[in-house]
Amino acid sequence: MGRLDGKVAIVTGGGGDFGSATCRRFVAEGARVCVADIDQDRGHSVAEELGAAAFAVRCDHTVRAEADAAVAETVSRWGTLTTLFNNAGVVWTGKFDTLDAAELQRLLTVDLVGMAEMTQAALPALRRHAVAEPHAGAVILFMSSGLGLRGAPGTSGYAIAKHGVTGLMRSLAQELGPENIRVNGLAPGIADTAGMRAAWAAPDEALRNFRERTPLRRNVEPIDVANAALYLVSDEARNIHSVSFPVDGGIYGL
Ligand SMILES: NC(=O)c1ccc[n+]([C@@H]2O[C@H](COP(=O)([O-])OP(=O)(O)OC[C@H]3O[C@@H](n4cnc5c(N)ncnc54)[C@H](O)[C@@H]3O)[C@@H](O)[C@H]2O)c1
Repeated sequence: MGRLDGKVAIVTGGGGDFGSATCRRFVAEGARVCVADIDQDRGHSVAEELGAAAFAVRCDHTVRAEADAAVAETVSRWGTLTTLFNNAGVVWTGKFDTLDAAELQRLLTVDLVGMAEMTQAALPALRRHAVAEPHAGAVILFMSSGLGLRGAPGTSGYAIAKHGVTGLMRSLAQELGPENIRVNGLAPGIADTAGMRAAWAAPDEALRNFRERTPLRRNVEPIDVANAALYLVSDEARNIHSVSFPVDGGIYGL
């Protein structure tokens, strides 16, 4: 018996470091997964590794037609959609003075608007599942960040977008809970991923700096995020709702 037997999930950014670790964990626990990523190569290699329980679609979650197509293909293959993990996003760091309007717009579009678009695309199928399987309901999980709950110097553009994700998660939890759709968020601390490396000028120094300030003295790893995601989308979490779940070694709880 897997902890996700019968679940059918879309994982956006499923080819990335957090996303691929989560896809592996979901499939290992019995789910079938649509690996939805703007980066076709990364998405396809994850789906190939996972075999018959996964397939990849090229999906820019900021483009509604691509979000709709990912949902349609998932439902046509597997008959339903039980779970949406809105994970795709980009990390950004820099001084506030350098954050011009175009860059802020890009962050808001990729990190926030894309999740809203993807959620709207998935809602009809999630609603159908929540009605058809009332004991389990449907689940939406948002990838926020510790920086979606707290501020930190040099992260303004990213923190604006991720605070927006937390706001979206909380308001949807109130709106969709009565429809038997659970909504939660993940709030990880810093992890050594491709997205993180692309954003920090000195990534190794940033990782060390966060590690030294973290009570557990370790950085987050993709498997930590995947394990938390697994719990939150499973029926074990049937009464967990509207929570920003920290995966941060305690750093943002200080
Ligand atoms: N790494 C960290 O320190 C950290 C901490 C907290 C939260 N996060 C969040 O975790 C999520 C995953 O990031 P990661 O660290 O695994 O980086 P990553 O770069 O490995 O993964 C991000 C994935 O998202 C995909 N993507 C980017 N734009 C997209 C779009 N418009 N449509 C669809 N897919 C798109 C990328 O192709 C990539 O595969 C992001 O939302 C990020 O903000 C990261």
